[in-house]
Amino acid sequence: MKPIRYGMIGGGQGAFIGGVHRTAAAIAGNWQLVAGALSSTPEKAKASGAEIGLDPARTYGSWAEMLEREAALPADQRIEAVSIVTPNHMHAPPAIAAMEAGFDVIVDKPLANSLANAQAIADAAARTGRRIAVTHTYTGYPLVKQARRLVSSGQFGKVRRVAVKYTQDWLSRAADLEGNKQAAWRVDPAQSGDAGAFGDIGTHAANLAEFITGEDITAICAELTMLPGRAIDDDGAALFRLSGGGKGTLTASQVLVGDINDLAIDIYCDEAGLHWRQEEPNTLRIGYRDKPTEIWHAGANRAYLANDVLAIQRTPGGHPEGYLEAFANIYRAFGEQLRGAPAPQDEPGYATMDDALKGMKFLRASLESSRRGAVWVDL
Ligand SMILES: NC(=O)c1ccc[n+]([C@@H]2O[C@H](COP(=O)([O-])OP(=O)(O)OC[C@H]3O[C@@H](n4cnc5c(N)ncnc54)[C@H](O)[C@@H]3O)[C@@H](O)[C@H]2O)c1
Repeated sequence: MKPIRYGMIGGGQGAFIGGVHRTAAAIAGNWQLVAGALSSTPEKAKASGAEIGLDPARTYGSWAEMLEREAALPADQRIEAVSIVTPNHMHAPPAIAAMEAGFDVIVDKPLANSLANAQAIADAAARTGRRIAVTHTYTGYPLVKQARRLVSSGQFGKVRRVAVKYTQDWLSRAADLEGNKQAAWRVDPAQSGDAGAFGDIGTHAANLAEFITGEDITAICAELTMLPGRAIDDDGAALFRLSGGGKGTLTASQVLVGDINDLAIDIYCDEAGLHWRQEEPNTLRIGYRDKPTEIWHAGANRAYLANDVLAIQRTPGGHPEGYLEAFANIYRAFGEQLRGAPAPQDEPGYATMDDALKGMKFLRASLESSRRGAVWVDL
């Protein structure tokens, strides 16, 4: 398959996730970075492009310039898609403009800084017919997909309860905000949106719960809090209801000391409990009442895994894959479908616009619930 030629927006010097996207796209093997508007100032954008060896002629000073000049190139040279890895307030403007210029979009989560801006992206996709993938990274892990297959098979009965947490400690001190590029925009509602940690990592937790159960979060009762002097949540917890009748709890915090990137999920069905933890992503534990606990291992040679789960792994068991490969699986699947491969029946291999819009509704409901004193709010 011919690689998808893409341009990156964001991901300049000192940025976090842009480099991860570039590495993931390279691992996926069906993407080729050919252009970029990598930073918010033209000088830094150019210097950032030079640093990663981007063609100077296609290293642009702004995303608007990139879209205009790329659209004017011959069809077999111009970019086909953009990857948007800017802070949340800078997702909707380039995403909408890119689709209007004829490009497909891969954008990081949360979809936007507000539900209204997320809806504007969805409207632009409907208007232009362009495609969008959202990088809810954790659904790219093999054993997360396997857990989804096992739950949907019905062999364990219905989902009774989900407990999902995503907790970190990198904002646990007041001084953590000083001189920290990643922190600066995340605690600023003008850039992050009205949600803080709930938007940054709570959306991943909610997406993971919905992905594995195959159900929707329908209502939420949340309490969001923050350290003194901060404007938006850095810590919060919620009860939620699932469309299948099950219940859940969700914790999202960036101030819990000792937790590094602790995304963990427990899914309790009538006859088994499934447990997956992002910091140990290559095992899935399944507990039963009447037989010993099972440990399922990831690996391209573990024949007990579903065929499509085997197909997205690159190394045999015991040679651990992780975050970058999970991200690469998202790029791989989206790229194949942009080239015309049919989307698999169960799920396309990346979070869709609908999935990401659900995340934005989850945020709106969580914020409203907390503001009103932790009452139940429907999504
Ligand atoms: N999927 C994941 O696991 C994951 C992890 C981290 C971050 N993210 C998401 O990725 C996005 C970026 O987060 P980050 O931590 O990399 O932030 P960051 O601050 O490290 O990087 C943001 C980059 O965007 C650039 N930028 C800002 N405005 C721009 C503009 N107008 N034009 C071009 N570039 C511009 C900045 O210069 C910087 O290079 C956020 O939406 C965040 O929620 C996702």
